[in-house]
Amino acid sequence: MKITDQEYSLFKNFIKEHCGISLGENKKYLLETRLGSLIAQNGCKTFTEFYYKLKNSTPRADLHTLFIDSITTNETLWFRDKYPFKILEEKLFPQYKEEILSGQRKEINIWSAGCSTGQEPYSIAIIAFDFFNSQKDKNIYLGKINILATDISNRVLSIASLGKYDDIAINRGMPQKYLDSYFKKDKNQWILDEKIKKLVQFKTINFKNPTNIQKTFDIIFLRNVIIYFSDELKQKLIDSLANILSPKGFLFLGTGETASGYSSKFDIIDEMGAIYYKVKKS
Ligand SMILES: C[S@@+](CC[C@H](N)C(=O)[O-])C[C@H]1O[C@@H](n2cnc3c(N)ncnc32)[C@H](O)[C@@H]1O
Repeated sequence: MKITDQEYSLFKNFIKEHCGISLGENKKYLLETRLGSLIAQNGCKTFTEFYYKLKNSTPRADLHTLFIDSITTNETLWFRDKYPFKILEEKLFPQYKEEILSGQRKEINIWSAGCSTGQEPYSIAIIAFDFFNSQKDKNIYLGKINILATDISNRVLSIASLGKYDDIAINRGMPQKYLDSYFKKDKNQWILDEKIKKLVQFKTINFKNPTNIQKTFDIIFLRNVIIYFSDELKQKLIDSLANILSPKGFLFLGTGETASGYSSKFDIIDEMGAIYYKVKKS
């Protein structure tokens, strides 16, 4: 089904309003390929007919949810870009261990924001478990790790919460040593160990209308998410993250993303071959 210029403009505005995603001028093919079957399943013959059906549904309705599932880009892999996980393992987790030992720290709170099908939060959980499990008095540390993983798409969150992956997904970045230690094969699925799964809680959060997040985080991963957002939303979101990070908190963005120019609340850290951000001292 072909989309007209006028229909494209209607959908472009709707997507920006509801998800913050800013589609360029030349993404007509994307809507044609991603929405074709949803439009047909809903008995609509044109994009216009579907648009009004969607517009008249409430944001909580199934149609709205299915629409968001269809238009979001959920590309992900294990230990993506490697360096953020190296920094966790070699710098931040050893530091948090010392802080726990000296009584300065009660918990380790990490947010994987825009977690897709779970590869990012589970990669963090594997590194955390592997590091703290090898320490003396490991249970003191393991009980203090909380990883919140959120996404706008309920479809990816339901895949993530199962913790089951096929060969294709596993082959995208999972090191053999972690596959051997933390997965079991059952027919054509790799099942993630419960002790890793239980470190992660999944929740639906839309950055366009975020509900109040009461927690303070030590680390936020917001990787390969804002690349799709308007400048206005990038600014609002990155600024707001400085308020929910602890005073010594860190922000990791994707390699093609930057906080510079969007927020003045962060200092850049350039080390171990990586760029990431630290909340500025006030
Ligand atoms: C490309 S994936 C990145 C996954 C992971 N962070 C990584 O780097 O591999 C981007 C994710 O952001 C989510 N997303 C897009 N718009 C969002 C919004 N407005 N609120 C919350 N999540 C959103 C998508 O559903 C998708 O799963």
